[in-house]
Amino acid sequence: MKILVTGGLGFIGSHTVVELQNEGFEVVIVDNLSNSSKDVLGGIECITKRKPLFENIDLRDKKAVQELFATYSDIAGVIHFAASKAVGESVENPLLYYENNINTLVYLLQELQSKPKANIIFSSSCTVYGQAEEMPITENAPVQQAMSPYGNTKQMGEEIITDVVKVSDINAVLLRYFNPIGSHPSAEIGELPLGVPQNLVPFITQTAMGIRKELSVYGDDYPTADGTAVRDYIHVVDLAKAHVVALQRLLQNKNEAKVETFNIGTGTGSSVLEVIHAFEKVSGQKLPYKIVGRREGDITEAYANTDKANTVLGWQAKSTLEEALASAWKWEQKIREKK
Ligand code: NAD
Ligand code: WQD
Repeated sequence: MKILVTGGLGFIGSHTVVELQNEGFEVVIVDNLSNSSKDVLGGIECITKRKPLFENIDLRDKKAVQELFATYSDIAGVIHFAASKAVGESVENPLLYYENNINTLVYLLQELQSKPKANIIFSSSCTVYGQAEEMPITENAPVQQAMSPYGNTKQMGEEIITDVVKVSDINAVLLRYFNPIGSHPSAEIGELPLGVPQNLVPFITQTAMGIRKELSVYGDDYPTADGTAVRDYIHVVDLAKAHVVALQRLLQNKNEAKVETFNIGTGTGSSVLEVIHAFEKVSGQKLPYKIVGRREGDITEAYANTDKANTVLGWQAKSTLEEALASAWKWEQKIREKK
């Protein structure tokens, strides 16, 4: 029995492969290395002492996807991370996102629907909620009009899966991630943002490393305690473990519906300034930053109600914000040593 992990050399995928191997699963990674490196395989092996199977395939190649499933006929589940994820890029190049984030899902589902029983876990995002009206956000919060083509591909992905499971023997779990940060405690794997980081935490660590001059804080006029925007920052290892629990639920037929949706966050919101101060505490470094205007498309506040994940999925985030930031800093220092 094998587990197919698409995008398994990426940030969240690689951490999930480690946790799958820790639980004894045999993993096949499919990745086209468009936003990762084959070196990540060595990092995974260094941690688990097991090298996962790896196929360098572009999932936009329908024939390659068909051949993949012909080669590995014993795939018991798919965890589908592979996608493009840069919000700004999606606005400039929507068709790149519709092709990469939708076609790949369709080709995977076409293979799964011909199997007697199939399971898929889909990487969704709290972005589907837009600016939710109530905090913390539950899974019943309405999905709002997407604010970017990227966000739309996540909403569409959920809808496509929901439609397909009705007419097939596929069972699915949709995991709506909040804000994953940090790196494996070994610092053998972590986040590898290409170019100028768009996300807060890698920008912070690169600023602390002297790679960036200073952090721009996008707005301090939000209706929050300190005026800066609030998010739910979850340690990537906690997020990875949620995938293992979700997979075990499907494989053991414990799911109560053919599609189940879970918010995966810590349940705690942290402002940008709180993250900065927490980072300064764990790194012992003063972080240079300036307050600038709001970033287009940003929401004020998003943090998860994790009751459903805690009670139904039997999962809970364990790491604190400080622990996650410390792991991100340790990783940043490690990769700069290698440079
Ligand atoms: P990532 O870019 O680090 O990983 C994605 C991986 O998929 C990369 O290794 C990339 O090379 C691979 N890939 C992309 N297109 C492919 C294709 N056509 N064929 C084969 N491989 C392909 O991203 P991540 O941060 O690990 O995110 C993983 C998933 O989680 C994505 O679907 C993303 O939308 C979703 N997500 C991420 C976040 C976040 O903040 N990182 C939040 C919510 C949801
Ligand atoms: C967090 C906060 C920024 C950078 C994005 C995507 C979402 C998901 C996660 C893929 C915000 C502020 C940031 C900086 C700043 N990705 N910030 N200065 O925007 O919550 O979510 O990543 O699925 O879809 O939208 O995360 O890390 O970009 O920003 O002040 O240099 O930090 O304004 O308030 P975000 P982020």
